[in-house]
Amino acid sequence: MVSRFSFAVVFVVLLLYQELQFIKAQSWIRAGYWYSGTGFPVSDINSSLFTHLICAFAEVNPSTYELSITPDDEKSFSSFTNTVKKKNLSISTLLSIGGSAANSTVFKLMASNVSSRKPFIESSIRIARLYGFEGLDLAWVSANTSSEMRNMGNLFEEWRKSAKSEVAENSSSSELILTASVKFRPSMDFTSYPVESIRSNLNWVHVLPYDNTTFPRRNSTASHAALFDPSSTVNIDDGIKEWIGSGIAANKVVLGLPFYGYAWTLKNPNDSASITFTGPAITSGGDMSYKDIKAYIKRNGASVKYNSTYEVNYCTVGSTWIGFDDVQVVTIKVAYAREKNLLGYAVWQVADDDNWVLSAAAAGKVLKRLI
Ligand SMILES: *[C@@H]1O[C@H](CO)[C@@H](O)[C@H](O)[C@H]1NC(C)=O
Ligand SMILES: *[C@@H]1O[C@H](CO)[C@@H](O)[C@H](O)[C@H]1NC(C)=O
Ligand SMILES: *[C@@H]1O[C@H](CO)[C@@H](O)[C@H](O)[C@H]1NC(C)=O
Ligand SMILES: *[C@@H]1O[C@H](CO)[C@@H](O)[C@H](O)[C@H]1NC(C)=O
Ligand SMILES: *[C@@H]1O[C@H](CO)[C@@H](O)[C@H](O)[C@H]1NC(C)=O
Ligand SMILES: *[C@@H]1O[C@H](CO)[C@@H](O)[C@H](O)[C@H]1NC(C)=O
Ligand SMILES: *[C@@H]1O[C@H](CO)[C@@H](O)[C@H](O)[C@H]1NC(C)=O
Ligand SMILES: *[C@@H]1O[C@H](CO)[C@@H](O)[C@H](O)[C@H]1NC(C)=O
Ligand SMILES: *[C@@H]1O[C@H](CO)[C@@H](O)[C@H](O)[C@H]1NC(C)=O
Ligand SMILES: *[C@@H]1O[C@H](CO)[C@@H](O)[C@H](O)[C@H]1NC(C)=O
Repeated sequence: MVSRFSFAVVFVVLLLYQELQFIKAQSWIRAGYWYSGTGFPVSDINSSLFTHLICAFAEVNPSTYELSITPDDEKSFSSFTNTVKKKNLSISTLLSIGGSAANSTVFKLMASNVSSRKPFIESSIRIARLYGFEGLDLAWVSANTSSEMRNMGNLFEEWRKSAKSEVAENSSSSELILTASVKFRPSMDFTSYPVESIRSNLNWVHVLPYDNTTFPRRNSTASHAALFDPSSTVNIDDGIKEWIGSGIAANKVVLGLPFYGYAWTLKNPNDSASITFTGPAITSGGDMSYKDIKAYIKRNGASVKYNSTYEVNYCTVGSTWIGFDDVQVVTIKVAYAREKNLLGYAVWQVADDDNWVLSAAAAGKVLKRLI
């Protein structure tokens, strides 16, 4: 009798615990990066379309290894959270550190040992609190050796430990969210991400298909961010599967959505079926924001095409070919993220949108055709 009673109590407690875990569990994330380099005013972000806004990028001081914000960015970064919360109090903000323009040597040195990681960790938490950010995002995109990856794993572990002890000392705030912006797949040529440490220390990862080296700017095929590719493993679906296969739970993966595309010069403008390129077009690197692509299409009276093999949109004007994600592909990618039980999506970057068309499509509640 007694044991049956205690069993019942244990059962109820377990149920309650599960319920609490469920309540604590993060719900669907609609994140957007705001990048200071664009000059897009923070106050112009349509916050009704996002749950999380990510302010990019803070830097690392090359001599003290503390987190630093350039004087140019200080004003917008320090008021970022207040500005976006003015429109919607329930938006969470994160401060992202690094990015593709960051100095790879400084990150390597900062992470190299416990005494250089410490000032980074302490200052990052201090600055996050000072400016009201609810989380920090490490975008150390140049890390590519096994020692850097090992150090990154140690950094995440010490970061989490500090975040925990910070709230233990200060019960009035909740523990900081810690995330990383990572490549489209965990493995690289000579190493792979510190998956074990990511799993136990980070809240989630932003899996970003933008990358000049491992998600190559190929001379052929459809896009820089194809969801599928039957002839190669360099595509988002294979990358996401690899992240999940490596041990990262699907509900810790946030899918990056590029709000930009690439323009290329076709080798043979008559042959846009088997597309081969001679090099970038329109801009020096070929990269163009969605907004600029739409303006270009309109100016040239072109039409947006769709390739369901890769799940990409594209257009052709003379010998110029532009691959990008339009409303159609964004909707399909978000449906894909839902179907795979991912945690949500993150837009790079909000300023590239055209009148919030893509952000609204991504935020749409209607589930379109699943792939
Ligand atoms: C405010 O943000 C929350 C969470 O991100 C969202 O569910 C809600 O729709 C937003 N409300 C408005 C008015 O934008
Ligand atoms: C990167 O940082 C290293 C170490 O501080 C420095 O020597 C180098 O000049 C920096 N590189 C650039 C491009 O600023
Ligand atoms: C830790 O790394 C920093 C930066 O590379 C270096 O200056 C320092 O000497 C190292 N300290 C130890 C104890 O190895
Ligand atoms: C690793 O990254 C550094 C800095 O971006 C780069 O110079 C180097 O070529 C990369 N190495 C490999 C093997 O990709
Ligand atoms: C505790 O957190 C609150 C809110 O972030 C902050 O205002 C306060 O200064 C913190 N106190 C300490 C001792 O860190
Ligand atoms: C693309 O083509 C150029 C010129 O034909 C060549 O140098 C380059 O290696 C090619 N890149 C790839 C990724 O195939
Ligand atoms: C493309 O097609 C046009 C008309 O059919 C033809 O005149 C032209 O020579 C072709 N260009 C190439 C590069 O094949
Ligand atoms: C997509 O493009 C590839 C390469 O150009 C082509 O082989 C394939 O048939 C296209 N798929 C569809 C459905 O049009
Ligand atoms: C990729 O490289 C090109 C030119 O080398 C540069 O303009 C572009 O910003 C880079 N993109 C990313 C996402 O690093
Ligand atoms: C924000 O997005 C919503 C949904 O697409 C739209 O109705 C609203 O007009 C937008 N607000 C601004 C200021 O663009």
